[in-house]
Amino acid sequence: VNYLVEKSRGEIVDTLLTGLDRLEYRGYDSSGFAVDADKRNENYVIREVGKVSELRKLVQEAHMDMSKRFSTHVGIAHNRWATHGQPSRTNAHPHRSDPGAEFLVVHNGNITNYRELKSLLESKGYAFETETDTECIAKLAKYVYDTNKGRLDFTELLKLILVEIEGSYGILVKSSHYPGEVIAARNGSPLLVGIKSERKLKVDFVDVEFPDINVEAVADNVTHEFNPRLVLPRGNGLGLPDGSNSLMVPGLNNDLRHSQSRAFISDDGMPIPTEFFLASDLAAVVEQTKKVIFLEDDDIAHIYDGGLHIHRVRREEGMSSIRSIQTIEMELQQIRKGNFDHFMLKEIFEQPESIVNTMRGRVNFENRTVKLGGLSNYISAIRRSRRIVMIACGTSYHSCLATRDLFEELTDIPISVEIASYFLDRRPPLFRDDTCIFVSQSGETADTILALKYCIERGAMCVGVVNAVGSGISRQTLCGVHINAGPEIGVASTKAYTSQYITLVMIALSLSEDRLSKQSRRNEIIDGLGKISAQLQEVLGLNDRIQAVSETLVDKLKMLILGRGYQYATALEGALKIKEISYILAEGILTGELKHGPLALVDADIPIIMIATKDKLFDKIINGIGQVTARSGKPIFIASQNGPTLVEGKKKENGSVETKAELQSAETSYVRFEVPETVDCLQGLLNIVILQIFGYWLAVKKGYNPDHPRNLAKAVTTE
Ligand code: G6P
Repeated sequence: VNYLVEKSRGEIVDTLLTGLDRLEYRGYDSSGFAVDADKRNENYVIREVGKVSELRKLVQEAHMDMSKRFSTHVGIAHNRWATHGQPSRTNAHPHRSDPGAEFLVVHNGNITNYRELKSLLESKGYAFETETDTECIAKLAKYVYDTNKGRLDFTELLKLILVEIEGSYGILVKSSHYPGEVIAARNGSPLLVGIKSERKLKVDFVDVEFPDINVEAVADNVTHEFNPRLVLPRGNGLGLPDGSNSLMVPGLNNDLRHSQSRAFISDDGMPIPTEFFLASDLAAVVEQTKKVIFLEDDDIAHIYDGGLHIHRVRREEGMSSIRSIQTIEMELQQIRKGNFDHFMLKEIFEQPESIVNTMRGRVNFENRTVKLGGLSNYISAIRRSRRIVMIACGTSYHSCLATRDLFEELTDIPISVEIASYFLDRRPPLFRDDTCIFVSQSGETADTILALKYCIERGAMCVGVVNAVGSGISRQTLCGVHINAGPEIGVASTKAYTSQYITLVMIALSLSEDRLSKQSRRNEIIDGLGKISAQLQEVLGLNDRIQAVSETLVDKLKMLILGRGYQYATALEGALKIKEISYILAEGILTGELKHGPLALVDADIPIIMIATKDKLFDKIINGIGQVTARSGKPIFIASQNGPTLVEGKKKENGSVETKAELQSAETSYVRFEVPETVDCLQGLLNIVILQIFGYWLAVKKGYNPDHPRNLAKAVTTE
């Protein structure tokens, strides 16, 4: 955060801590921040393990003078989700270059060559204090700064650092050598700039400042090409004659301080007082401002003298030199829990509304048509593809599985569904006439983004189905559909799943719009979509009963969830919900596979949830139930309202057939949750809600916080 209006330190710290609160769902191992101390070249750095509330406590105990006012101020803060090094106060960000903290860095992502950088810097006398990859960035900053004897401006310095770093990063750097300035860069990790101004900004964009000097570096009278590595060529020392640390970069420190970007200068040439908020996620800035710029990979955002200056790490043909200032629609209440104890429960209960938002302006229930603006120019090209490949991770992957059958049925195009990491492991053949659909809530999942890169390189048509506006996948795909579910904060995805599901159904409907033979089926599905929100609302009415049943299961260590056909995806997604937040080993099983192994687990003790809503596979479902009950299994059923009896009574010795009453009494010993009936391909939207609520209550009854499952993160931006 960079302030250019007068603020007290109390306000600044509070802004940072509130930002951390809003981002706590992205990481909650530890947190920390740095703000200027009273002397311009000193910092307060405060870090703590655990939740942001622990950090707040530490701030209260720290006896900092909160009344001190600043007209320009930089603070940086970070929530950590550990990748390198366990959660501890030492490993929490910001990381420092030296005990004097000349450079302080916060970082998201993963520096893959940090071991090489670390050993190089250690050989130059730098003592590392942490187990993180991030620390090498701070130390490298000091090394490059010292080597250049302070002759570089902050942008020049960062460019020299970035050419040495491999991997993914979203970083913020603050330095006592550049007081009142902050610099940020991204590569593969999200980063945006929120802009809050007292006056209307002059233009709604910021120019990117491309490097316009062909840089050469001189060391000990030897001229090297500065392309791209000079300071630390990988693996073979520093590239400088030993003992020399005179690396000069002529020309660099002359002209690169451009005049301020136009948006932040008024007609009379004076800076417009502005606050800038750099963040990895909209949720952190939404209560400060709705105006944001989404940075691109290789952008450097440098804030100084009241202005924001965006530079490119390197010149690239075809790269746009404009970053537009966008107005976002997210509201504060969307990222608050309201009356709910947890975000997860709030988001489960939001679904009747969020699925309507997904369909709004797209499905016309009167004319029975579907119009997806983001795809309209590409629909006929997709229809001509020889294959559709759906690629995603986690819950998003399950939404692909849930709709695969429908794509096959309506489009007659072969469909494959891929887990992004496995797809990357295999690097399978892919062709220009393939269409690849990337489904992701966050739009930032590293595995999915890497799979997207792979498909772009092979010339496939790439389509995004994404919730987070401005995210990597929404920007890098050729076209796509936003699911418009609103921000999802709970780590266990719920409303994003149902909205992804509906979006994929809408895509399948669009693709088949030209097919007469599919018309009555399409009409049936569109009519089903028209009723689905009210039906989902009805399912939520089962909350209390599900809570009561979950109480009987808290001591169980394992659980089976069975489904087939359309409900196989529901079984997998339900099992994922339960295991990720209640830590019960829940396994989703295709009922048809039961007899090939999992049946060995069935006894009177193991909890079994069987999805047995009515559809064309009903006879096979009954068959599967028979296999379970014959082994003393005691299923909990998810069944259709007023649907048929699911369990056969005991065979009578005289071989006579049971009466209906006898059948029903046989079933009363089993728990049964009844859901409204809809079209077979939409039934999973209702059935999954039961399992979401189950997962939620199992976690809560076991004393776990469903919003903060151990070891998991909302968006996994590392491979
Ligand atoms: C993480 C989250 C999951 C999510 C998966 C894919 O593992 O914890 O809830 O389903 O990533 O995320 P995406 O944002 O790509 O949908």
